[in-house]
Amino acid sequence: MDTMTPQKKHSPKKKGSSSNPAPRNETVAHGGADTPMGACSSNQPIGLAIDTTFDDTSVAILKGRREVLANLTLSQYADHEEFGGVVPERASRKHLEAIHPLIGKALNQGGVGFGDLDYVAVSNQPGLLGAILVGMTVAKSMAYLLTKPLIGINHIEAHPYANFLVHGELPFPLMHLVAAGGHTLLILQRDHFDWTIVGRSIDDAAGECVDKAAKMFGHPMPGGPVVDRLAMAHAPHPHPFPRPMLGDPGLDFSFSGLKTAMFYFIRDHREELQNGEIKEGPALAAFFQAVADVLVAKTLRAAKLHKTPAITLSGGLTASGKLRQAFEEGCKKAGVTLYMPPPPLCTDNAAMVACLAAYRYERGLTDGLTLDGYANLMT
Ligand code: KG4
Ligand code: ZN
Repeated sequence: MDTMTPQKKHSPKKKGSSSNPAPRNETVAHGGADTPMGACSSNQPIGLAIDTTFDDTSVAILKGRREVLANLTLSQYADHEEFGGVVPERASRKHLEAIHPLIGKALNQGGVGFGDLDYVAVSNQPGLLGAILVGMTVAKSMAYLLTKPLIGINHIEAHPYANFLVHGELPFPLMHLVAAGGHTLLILQRDHFDWTIVGRSIDDAAGECVDKAAKMFGHPMPGGPVVDRLAMAHAPHPHPFPRPMLGDPGLDFSFSGLKTAMFYFIRDHREELQNGEIKEGPALAAFFQAVADVLVAKTLRAAKLHKTPAITLSGGLTASGKLRQAFEEGCKKAGVTLYMPPPPLCTDNAAMVACLAAYRYERGLTDGLTLDGYANLMT
């Protein structure tokens, strides 16, 4: 089991709490923008957060704990398409091309200048180390030049903060399901900065499994939205896709077998799939039903076991309408409160990073310029 403890402290300025408008999340095209040198007067801290952990370059500006002034994300999916997956070195180079114009654009959109920033936050784990180092180098340079605190953020710990951003203060203890392309985790959170991973996938993440199933039908990355759309539109084919580890009393997941089950299903029904007797939509709907059944059942089991009256969803896969429906039904039946961010805040974004950073800034939990980056989840 992994736990997380706060890092070293600084003394933050005393400032008030913030309002809670709907955050903006948009994908922007490449292109620079002039950066204003600062005209924003505020008694709440303003932070700039960077996330370059995988294949999205994201920059957010946050005022207080929840007022999202800008949240811009550039996806690299198209840049890696011809290679059939994310190429780490290419990801780093693409982050390098994108990061400076994106920071300029975010500052412009937020109506703030470098001089208005109270701290600079950056995800320093987990992910592709080369990609993380791009974001960290930029964040460190900014913190050094502006003489402002640097705050290193665990990307996984930040995902559930998409919920704090939109729902405000949530009552602890909470059970978080983080379901993304790289991770499937159940996290018990007792308080800010006090959490434990109580369940995780022992092999593939749920999102990876869904992406691979979509790929078997010839769909490009990311496959999740396509599978979700088909699952919403079709009744599932009766093929009994397995519910891996559902009978197991623990809280861990396994999704690689489900991926293999889809491989065999296609192999064994090639003719029916070709002549249209079996259609892609119902097949993927049946497969996705299995993914959803396991995620809902295990998360509710975790909530019961650890006596958490509420659960939260976050991570790209939880943008799925079908999965959200399944959770709504399951939680209603079980009498468990469900918190979900809007779909654009489920996928990787820097606003969730900024939100966790705002809590750390208030507590004086900042880092020095010797902050390290880590490919693995260090807790
Ligand atoms: O959190 P995320 O953006 O990046 C990682 O940290 O991995 O999650 C990416 C995953 C991919 O598997 C993608 O197919 C899936 O989230 N995804 C979706 C949707 N949007 C993204 N899955 C289902 N429905 C969606 N709307
Ligand atoms: Zn993520």
